[in-house]
Amino acid sequence: MAASSGNARLLALTLVLVLAALHGVVCDSNHTHFAMVSRNAPSWRPDRGGHGKGSAPAPSPSLDTCGCEPTPAPKDFLNEKLRTLYPVIQAFKTTITSDPRGVTASWVGPNLCDSYFGGNMYKGFYCDHPPVKGAPQDDTTLTIASIDFNGYGLGAPSLAGFIDAFPDLALFHANSNNFSGDVPDLTGLPYFYELDLSNNNFSGVFPANVVPLGGLLFLDLRFNRFVGTVPPPVFDLSVVALFLNNNGFYGRIPDNFGSTTAEYLVVANNQFTGPIPRSIYNTSANLSEVLFLNNHLSGCLPYEIGLVEGLTVFDAGGNDITGPIPLSLGCLGLVEELNLAGNQLYGHIPDVLCMLAKTGKLQNLSLSDNYFHSVGHHCLELVRSKVLDVRLNCILNFPNQRPALECARFYADPPQHCPFVPHIPCDLPGFRPPAAAAAALPSAVAAEGGGGGGGGN
Ligand SMILES: *[C@@H]1O[C@H](CO)[C@@H](O)[C@H](O)[C@H]1NC(C)=O
Ligand SMILES: *[C@@H]1O[C@H](CO)[C@@H](O)[C@H](O)[C@H]1NC(C)=O
Ligand SMILES: *[C@@H]1O[C@H](CO)[C@@H](O)[C@H](O)[C@H]1NC(C)=O
Ligand SMILES: *[C@@H]1O[C@H](CO)[C@@H](O)[C@H](O)[C@H]1NC(C)=O
Ligand SMILES: *[C@@H]1O[C@H](CO)[C@@H](O)[C@H](O)[C@H]1NC(C)=O
Ligand SMILES: *[C@@H]1O[C@H](CO)[C@@H](O)[C@H](O)[C@H]1NC(C)=O
Repeated sequence: MAASSGNARLLALTLVLVLAALHGVVCDSNHTHFAMVSRNAPSWRPDRGGHGKGSAPAPSPSLDTCGCEPTPAPKDFLNEKLRTLYPVIQAFKTTITSDPRGVTASWVGPNLCDSYFGGNMYKGFYCDHPPVKGAPQDDTTLTIASIDFNGYGLGAPSLAGFIDAFPDLALFHANSNNFSGDVPDLTGLPYFYELDLSNNNFSGVFPANVVPLGGLLFLDLRFNRFVGTVPPPVFDLSVVALFLNNNGFYGRIPDNFGSTTAEYLVVANNQFTGPIPRSIYNTSANLSEVLFLNNHLSGCLPYEIGLVEGLTVFDAGGNDITGPIPLSLGCLGLVEELNLAGNQLYGHIPDVLCMLAKTGKLQNLSLSDNYFHSVGHHCLELVRSKVLDVRLNCILNFPNQRPALECARFYADPPQHCPFVPHIPCDLPGFRPPAAAAAALPSAVAAEGGGGGGGGN
């Protein structure tokens, strides 16, 4: 096995990990995005086995810095790189404040790459041959290429001086630990591309050290206690996945949002305000799943969402977004889940959108808890088949709607006048745009006597 070519092996490892990370999103179409937001993220890496067996108890945190082990002789290490990493690991070990699974007890001796050879020492550390330009792959030195502490429950006041001291590190995964402090500067690590700090105890503003990481493909900061605004350069990172959900981020989503190359982007469960940036149209080459849910986003629902052809999940539920649904959303031929529930949307639920259940992939259209006053002809069928949820709106003669008075009040004084854009930026077979462009401007809507009955203006 050690004979396999270094570059290829590292790359293969890479792809397996990236795909494993996104597997839940891609394949589990039922609840995919909720899985991504759920508290205990899966371990991306397959368990390499050998866990548990006689785990030693956690070392006491404040030992006399563990002179407990004599330093192995230089000749005991496989190579010089590993010899220089040994003291880095030992120093970090002395800062560990909790280790419920006793993993650090395996961090002894000179065999830092034990897992590469099928052993159980140095749990959480994985070795590989770093790619070296110009060098024959098999000649490159075996060293630590990834660290995966997912689910270990380790506590330490800081990761600085630790992960930044592994020059060949490509991945650091630390889901469900109790790390905090500053995120170290990883700009000196040329191969680094995957950072998962999810479900830890990081706080303070967005970690500035992450912003310059041009090679990052996967950034997961969800379930921490970060606050403040998200710096615009974050959306210039060439990432595939960006998870910022379940923190305390606030402020507007930067206007350069549309520069993101992410396929999976989750900003749910924060305190973001302002509109969904219209620059979202610019993500159309890559964006597949985007979750804005449970923030304080406002403004009109942008027409430009309909230009993001590859969307499979769009979730902006639980915000304060208003306006009619732009007909452009009828162009989302791949969308499976569309959630706009719990906003202040109004007007007509367009037929072109509901037709996506037949002509496209739409399986779940959540529009409950808004102020829609009517539904397109094809929508009725979806309500019956429970694909479309329109409870708590202002639709006349529908069950479970808002009180008429509440609807009248809303339409008399809607939160914001949003333009209704009837333009459909794609070819929809069999669809003819309504002749008298069914303008759903709030005034027109009110004049129609939507929902609550004649809320004149
Ligand atoms: C999706 O849900 C259906 C019905 O609830 C179930 O039969 C199917 O196994 C689910 N698919 C996945 C991938 O969980
Ligand atoms: C996490 O670490 C902090 C100190 O940084 C400590 O106060 C807290 O009890 C730890 N929590 C758990 C669950 O170990
Ligand atoms: C996070 O750290 C703080 C101390 O900074 C501690 O009080 C708190 O218990 C920690 N939270 C968790 C979930 O461990
Ligand atoms: C985004 O899409 C462009 C154009 O299709 C492609 O070249 C690029 O590799 C994609 N980026 C990512 C991160 O997938
Ligand atoms: C569109 O995205 C590209 C990068 O993918 C970026 O360079 C450009 O500035 C973006 N334009 C807008 C208007 O967001
Ligand atoms: C449809 O989506 C809504 C909101 O995202 C969710 O609450 C509901 O459980 C989903 N329904 C099904 C059948 O998956």
